[in-house]
Amino acid sequence: MVERLPEFELTAAVDARIADAAGRVVDAEHVVALTGAGLSVESGIPPFRGPGGLWTKYGEPPLDGYQRFMEDPRAAWESRLSPAKEPWLKGLQETLRKAKPNDGHKALAELESAGQLDCLITQNIDDLHGQAGTRALAEIHGNYKLLRCLQCVARFGEDEVEIDSENLPPRCPRCAGLVKGDTVQFGEPIPADVLRRCFEEVTRCDCMIVAGTSASVFPAAAVPQEVLQSGGIVIEVNPLPSDLTPMATCVLEGPGGPVLSRLLHHVRRLAGPVGAEVSS
Ligand code: APR
Repeated sequence: MVERLPEFELTAAVDARIADAAGRVVDAEHVVALTGAGLSVESGIPPFRGPGGLWTKYGEPPLDGYQRFMEDPRAAWESRLSPAKEPWLKGLQETLRKAKPNDGHKALAELESAGQLDCLITQNIDDLHGQAGTRALAEIHGNYKLLRCLQCVARFGEDEVEIDSENLPPRCPRCAGLVKGDTVQFGEPIPADVLRRCFEEVTRCDCMIVAGTSASVFPAAAVPQEVLQSGGIVIEVNPLPSDLTPMATCVLEGPGGPVLSRLLHHVRRLAGPVGAEVSS
């Protein structure tokens, strides 16, 4: 079991591999990124697995969260509205509230504004890609700041739904459907709208940048495999080997911040000043 992440050094060999990957991004028609918890580690949010992972430290949570919500939504909301009992959960909520986008999030947002990234699919619920300025964003596991109606799938900020602790669970202001947190719980189906968007993007994708994920949780882990099966290429950014590493076209071993910033540097160098060569 790896105890800590290897030190990263931008040697000439590593830089050459990043430059090669950048060339593939620039040459591609439709570029999509897939990110996971590892990308937010440099923002102070722990991953789930591997060194310092929440599940590594505290064990995997029960996998029936969604089932228990549907069995008793009032009780689920009462627990959501009461302060977290587990110290680690209280700590995580605090960390999420304080976290800021890091260089990895910013580099992906700049790749998009340079016309070199068409969509970003994230497994992260931490809202940091949105805060970094990414626009074409599909949050496949939801966003911790939002609420979602289970009937019409509309999403709301907390202040847009009447939450009365005497009258739980709250109802959708549009269709009176049942409302829950937008975060997708274990056992919960991925909302149809975001899943459809992901597979539309994957169908068009010939180059995928996969950063900070163990690529072990489905359906998100199927996404890079779909790209490879349709003849596309996959560029992996991860300081440690993942389930995807043996299949990836290019493996860039290192933390998301420095590696994606360097990838952006080379894309800009290769794409020319405007970087306006919209990839699709
Ligand atoms: N930069 C890039 N990658 C990193 C960094 C870093 N600084 N630090 C760690 N990593 C890598 C780890 O090596 C690991 O492969 O990020 C990955 C994190 O993996 P997980 O913790 O499994 O996170 P993720 O893949 O997003 O988990 C998928 O599982 O528990 C569920 O719903 C949860 O969305 C989550 C899903």
